[in-house]
Parts: sequence; C-alpha cells; structure tokens
Amino acid sequence: MNSSLGILGVGHLATYVIAGLRRAGDQREILLSPRNAQRAQALVREHRCVQERSNQTVVERARIILLSVRPHQLESLLEPLEFKADHLLISCVAGVSLEHLRSLVGDAQVVRTLPLACAEVGEGAVPLYPEHPEASALLSQLGELVLLGSEAQFELASVAACMNGWMFKFFAQLTEWYAAQGLAPETAKALVLHAFSGAVSLADASTDKSMVEISDSIATEGTYTKLGLDMLESQGAFDLWVDACAEVEKALKS
Ligand SMILES: NC(=O)c1ccc[n+]([C@@H]2O[C@H](COP(=O)([O-])OP(=O)(O)OC[C@H]3O[C@@H](n4cnc5c(N)ncnc54)[C@H](OP(=O)(O)O)[C@@H]3O)[C@@H](O)[C@H]2O)c1
Repeated sequence: MNSSLGILGVGHLATYVIAGLRRAGDQREILLSPRNAQRAQALVREHRCVQERSNQTVVERARIILLSVRPHQLESLLEPLEFKADHLLISCVAGVSLEHLRSLVGDAQVVRTLPLACAEVGEGAVPLYPEHPEASALLSQLGELVLLGSEAQFELASVAACMNGWMFKFFAQLTEWYAAQGLAPETAKALVLHAFSGAVSLADASTDKSMVEISDSIATEGTYTKLGLDMLESQGAFDLWVDACAEVEKALKS
C-alpha cells in the first residue's frame, strides 16, 4: 500500500507537521507541492522530503494528501486536480466544511483536522472528524488525538487551537513581570512554564478530583494563592477567556 504523504501548501502548518512526523520517527516518503520553493527546499534538506514538479504529480504519487493552504486558496488549488476514490485527503483548512471539500474532490475520502504548532514536538490536541484509521495512525504521532462525534463538535474544537495560541502571550507577560523584578530571563521562563506544565500534569493525572476541587484544595483561606485567585476572579480574568472563546465560536459559525 502506498503510504507516501503528499502535501499541498507548503507553509507554516506543513512545516511543523513534517517536523513532528519526523521527530516521531515517521520515515515515509513526503512529497511537497512546488510553490514556496525556498521553504520546500529547506524541508528537502532538513527532513528528507521531495519537492514535486507540480501539484498534480503530488496527487499522482501520494495516496494520502494533507491540504494545508489558506481557506481562500483552497478552490483554486483543488479545481485543476484529479483525485481517485482511494485518495485520503486530510484537510487542515480551518472553517471549510466536509460538504464543500467533497464538492471539490469527487469520490476521494476526506477528513478534517487542525494540528497546532506544538505538533512539532509531538504535543497538543489533534482533533479529527470523522474517524478514519489511516488518518488516526498518522495524526496520533503529532499529539493527543481527539476524535469528535460530529462536524459541529469539530468546529467547536477549533476554539482550542486558538486557546493554545493565546497561551504564549500569557506566558510571555508573566515571564516579563518576573524579569522586571530582576530574575534572569531563563529563570523567569522556567518558573512560569513549569508552573503551567506541572498544573497540566496534575490535572491530567487526577481522576478522582475535578479541576475546581484541585484549585480549592490549594487556594485555601489565608493562602497567598487564594489572595491572587480572589483578585483574578473579582476582576473577571477567567470570564474574559470564556468571552474570547465565545467570540471565536461566533466567528467560526458566520
Ligand atoms: N499556522 C497555524 O498555526 C495553523 C493552525 C491550524 C490550522 N491552520 C490552517 O492551515 C492552513 C495553512 O495555514 P498556514 O499558516 O500554514 O498558511 P501559510 O503559511 O500561508 O501556508 C500556505 C501555503 O500554501 C501555498 N499555496 C497557496 N496556494 C497554493 C497552490 N495553489 N498550490 C500550492 N501551494 C499553494 C502558499 O503559497 P503562497 O505563500 O505563495 O500563497 C503557502 O506557502 C490554513 O487553512 C489554516 O486555517 C494553520
């Protein structure tokens, strides 16, 4: 069976997905569309990819195809291409429905995913809809595969991709505060990042306690943790994050 992976759209997402696959030990042949030649050549050198002559030769030589162009580029990408029924198209294109994708690719099988930048290090949620064994096997190398039960749920899962992006500004602000107090930047970074990764690990490992119960068990009356938490809650800091999620969800639906 041809397990080569074709990539149509060699940009930011394609670059971190390829890096993540190679990091996970996936040695399959990876064939790149020719546009954005500089980036494609870097991937040829660093990750043993092959730059194809045209988008159509990518489609002819690979049965599994990652779609990684921007939404407004999708139609002009797909319209001239000919797919077969045994092609598996894995679309990373945010906001484009399966119905619309199928109208562009005929009988080929189509699934949707949204790997995050942290796929490069094999971490983060990797949503998938609908379930497909080959897509699952490929994508589970990039982080925690999360299978969604409907396309509406998949759209909701896209909000988590944005949450992931927001985190970096949050980490940066806390790190800069520490550095402004005189800590060396690398010490500040270690304190902040490990505060978060430790909390994530504990929340993940705690099967007998909810996240609110863990918080309540730490932020007890009279603690410094409670002092800061009360201030954050009274000023709506956490509500703002939920508001931002609702704003993105609304935009995704429009
Ligand atoms: N970046 C992320 O963090 C992220 C996360 C989740 C999902 N996504 C999704 O991933 C998709 C790609 O995002 P991106 O950030 O990787 O965008 P990007 O960096 O702009 O990459 C898209 C690439 O596709 C190329 N392209 C456009 N039309 C083409 C065509 N007809 N044939 C061959 N190549 C073509 C573009 O070339 P030109 O530059 O010449 O146009 C560009 O190199 C988007 O749909 C986005 O929704 C991205």
